[in-house]
Amino acid sequence: MTGGCDFREQISVMARERLESSSIGEIIEMAARFRALSFGAGEPSPELFPKDMIREAVAEAFEGQDVWGYYHDDFGYLPLREWIAERMIKDGMAPSWVKPEHILLTNGGGEGVSLVSEALIDPGSVVLVESPTYVESLLTFRKQGAICVPVPSDDEGIIPFELERIASAVRPRFLYTIPNFQNPSGRTIPEERRIQILDILRRLNLPMLEDDPYHYLSYDAAPPPCFLKLAGEDCRVVHCNSFSKTIAPGLRVGWLVVPPPLRNALHHLRVSAGLGRPTVIQAGVWRYLSRIDFPSRVKKLCDGYRERRDAMLDGIIRYLEPLGIRTSKPAGGFFVWCESPDSRDIHSFARYAVEKHGIAIIPGQSFFPRGDKRGDWAFRLSYAKVPAEQVNEGMQRLARAWESFPAVRASSVS
Ligand SMILES: Cc1ncc(COP(=O)(O)O)c(C=O)c1O
Repeated sequence: MTGGCDFREQISVMARERLESSSIGEIIEMAARFRALSFGAGEPSPELFPKDMIREAVAEAFEGQDVWGYYHDDFGYLPLREWIAERMIKDGMAPSWVKPEHILLTNGGGEGVSLVSEALIDPGSVVLVESPTYVESLLTFRKQGAICVPVPSDDEGIIPFELERIASAVRPRFLYTIPNFQNPSGRTIPEERRIQILDILRRLNLPMLEDDPYHYLSYDAAPPPCFLKLAGEDCRVVHCNSFSKTIAPGLRVGWLVVPPPLRNALHHLRVSAGLGRPTVIQAGVWRYLSRIDFPSRVKKLCDGYRERRDAMLDGIIRYLEPLGIRTSKPAGGFFVWCESPDSRDIHSFARYAVEKHGIAIIPGQSFFPRGDKRGDWAFRLSYAKVPAEQVNEGMQRLARAWESFPAVRASSVS
């Protein structure tokens, strides 16, 4: 189509922030085109979705009288918020002040991050992030006008000394963390370090956005207590969570635990962002949850993903460690973070691996704030959507690609 308005002069600065081409999108597209095995997609596995039960529960939800009109509580369907508050307290995730009135239902965890960003970020504000961190949150913060400043992390996540040094110098609006089985690194912050981090935030009077969608996908032992719980009466932690990993991401149901001092601001932002979210879906999720045993559901998921995680850890020992590739050893979630022993161009390598060896990985660069070069020598693997039997084959392909790459000139890869 030609002619007419091309919107070039009208596209907002906010939208431009998100228009950069993404290497994640490129590799996922190439994986489909070359029919490659993919360690790229960081999404739940479809055969673990409880499709029949959800179909039934949502169909029944349509029988309720309260799902057809506007739902007059802007925080969302009350029975689901009651279920969440009760569950979080029972599972030791939340302190006792958390009540249904503090639970705000969102369009997945992503919308929770976005609402908190709108509430706390002005153009030019600084947000502290783990390094590396979840790419979509980086884009959300930047879209809101934030400057994302990385805090160096080691195998146990954010380094407290570095946090204190950087936070004292830049006066951030908040610290963003994914404390369990982090995306993309797979790391978990141990309890002792969580306490140190909270002490620093208290001293500097800074809030935290805790994004914990992988909380229940813990394969070896229960994860450490949430920052929300550890902070107790000191309401500086906004907790963000989601049913995308425990039920299915297509339902788009997540939530925020909103501390009382932020409740008013988030209420107004929620109203201005579209008068709530589909009640029928929230009611369907609640009907589903109230007829299952949630811990059994979690166990089933963990059994499924643990097998894949173990197959990948086995492949790491057999095929990647002999090549000098350093990796994280996740105790849950979907991700393994890999660091190259040499300074090869990982973006070119990723394209070569998918095209010539039929294996997709995600280059590390996208997971760092702009200008941070540490991702240039790292990449992320996800075992979430690869059956355990195929993980071994994928790791062998990756090792073969790695060994043969130095002979290949980056420019010869299309
Ligand atoms: C760390 C993190 N936060 C948030 C999300 C968003 O998930 P959703 O919006 O589907 O709940 C994801 C999804 O992969 C994630 O990895």
